[in-house]
Amino acid sequence: MCGIIGYTGARSAVPLLLGGLRRLEYRGYDSAGVAVPSTTGGPVQLSRCQGKIAALEASLDKAPLAGPCGIGHTRWATHGKPSEVNAHPHRAGDVAVVHNGIIENHAELRARLQAAGSHFTSETDTEVIAHLVAHELTKDSDFLQAVVRAAAQLEGAWAIAAVNQKQPDTIVAARHSAPLLLGLGGPGVGEDSTAAENFVASDVSAILQHTRVVVDLEDGDLARITPNHYEVVDAHGKPVQRPRRRVEWSPAAAEKQGFRHYMLKEIHEQPRAIRETMLGAGVGADDVRFDGLSLDVSACARIVMLACGTSFHAALIGRSLIEGLARIPVEVDIASEFRYRDPIVRTTDLALAISQSGETADTIAALKEAKQRGAQTLAICNVLGASLSRVADQVLYTHAGPEISVASTKAFTTQLTMMVLLAIHLGRRTGHLTAERAKALVDGLQDLPAHIDNLLAASAAIRIVARRHQGARDCLFLGRGLCYPVALEGALKLKEISYIHAEGHASGEMKHGPIALVDGNMPVVVLAQRGPGYGKVLSNLEEVRARGGKIIAVATLGDHTIGDLADDLILVPDVAGELQPILASIPLQLLAYHFADLKGTDVDQPRNLAKSVTVE
Ligand code: M6R
Repeated sequence: MCGIIGYTGARSAVPLLLGGLRRLEYRGYDSAGVAVPSTTGGPVQLSRCQGKIAALEASLDKAPLAGPCGIGHTRWATHGKPSEVNAHPHRAGDVAVVHNGIIENHAELRARLQAAGSHFTSETDTEVIAHLVAHELTKDSDFLQAVVRAAAQLEGAWAIAAVNQKQPDTIVAARHSAPLLLGLGGPGVGEDSTAAENFVASDVSAILQHTRVVVDLEDGDLARITPNHYEVVDAHGKPVQRPRRRVEWSPAAAEKQGFRHYMLKEIHEQPRAIRETMLGAGVGADDVRFDGLSLDVSACARIVMLACGTSFHAALIGRSLIEGLARIPVEVDIASEFRYRDPIVRTTDLALAISQSGETADTIAALKEAKQRGAQTLAICNVLGASLSRVADQVLYTHAGPEISVASTKAFTTQLTMMVLLAIHLGRRTGHLTAERAKALVDGLQDLPAHIDNLLAASAAIRIVARRHQGARDCLFLGRGLCYPVALEGALKLKEISYIHAEGHASGEMKHGPIALVDGNMPVVVLAQRGPGYGKVLSNLEEVRARGGKIIAVATLGDHTIGDLADDLILVPDVAGELQPILASIPLQLLAYHFADLKGTDVDQPRNLAKSVTVE
């Protein structure tokens, strides 16, 4: 969704802002802009345009903006269509503002400001912030305190950054339920600083090239940065201390490194990501310790998992794993539905939120709801310091590294790895998992990276499968048991990046409706791993075949039966049932990728989608 970057220092701001905006592109956007306080007097200079950052760069080439301080933004339209006039920054008087999120009381504020003489030029909710700050500055010239007073009038979820022509080296930023952090630069602190400088950003990837020293703002915080100084205050304008931390992600981790797309690179990073997720968990020979995690398993009557999209699919698999290995009842809720159905939550419940970004508004809201109703809370998250990690009592981190492609791949398989690890941890503590079985699972987990390397080597063969079915407009994915959510995930991946209509179903449900869709133009991807239910999957396959459907089977290496039934066969190594979802996901990711790449879609930034959905 929208992205914010701000810079103040000695360098020319625009190239730094554009570089930061480029790194935020992956979040999804439809327009972009920058604001730079003038060095020669006059109003804050603006450059904005609809469309990609390349268009903004072209317009800045024609009409450059000079100055060592500025703010930049990528907008994902919520209020008002994507257009130059609705693009951020928005200016009022001496002030220009960029904003992520939604101002829920914008209509009321706009009416009030208009009545007081403000003239609006856009349809956005953001413009009210610029006018409010400008209005507050007429009462008192302290820029930070003016934003404090303006922010107190806003309702909704938002992060903002503002510049003021009267204090041209200063940026004031504020965070309220939308991510925002400060990046500290300067000699010896920043990665490439030769003089004093500081940054503000909604996502650390925007500034990672320049500094890895950050200050996370808490909800309600406001900050003022100048080249030499930063200060943080609370919602009442009182100074607060926030710790600095060093980001361990390397800047190179957020680059394509020779791959055609981030998605392909991230698919190939899975062996390493899974290995690092295991390392981070403290995996022993027949147990998983999770140093620092304190869960009273005997007091946990139920786990309620909350997540969206791909993370929701990981939760569905987690449910079967935890119920199977630890015998603790688990319920899974779509986070966006949870708090609107008056859920039953008890103090003996553990609410477990799963989110790659840790910034998904629905997941954060659902976890807050569970917490408010008395549940203990735990989060599984891939981004250190993300908002979700501050809501949860405890956090387990996956170590996938930065995931830039909108389509989640390595984050998903590391979430699945974490689910197996958590199930082992809980199973050993409830006493339902024997040391011998735990050891077999741990050994199986250790072998996964090598198996995935082998599966990745089949990428070219999977591209041939995709090419054969290139004209398909619809596709079904079928799976049973632990592979049913894998089918859901396979369908999600395909539809989001290739725009081919895809549905995932439990194989047993075929006869209850989806089979009506099957004809000679319909590829049906069947997850047919050996194990319980295999015979039934074969019957489902026969049913599809009888109706002329084209079968792409994902089966177990050494299966000599299935080849006769399938049009295309993709084989995955024979591993314990609990680990099959991880391996079975890899060919489905590659299949989706090659379908999309052959079709020529924007693989990393598919239309209408954003990397993290920070509005409800
Ligand atoms: O960051 P989160 O895991 O909370 O994101 C949840 C979903 O928005 C996300 O998984 C989405 O479904 C992806 N685009 C899937 O590829």
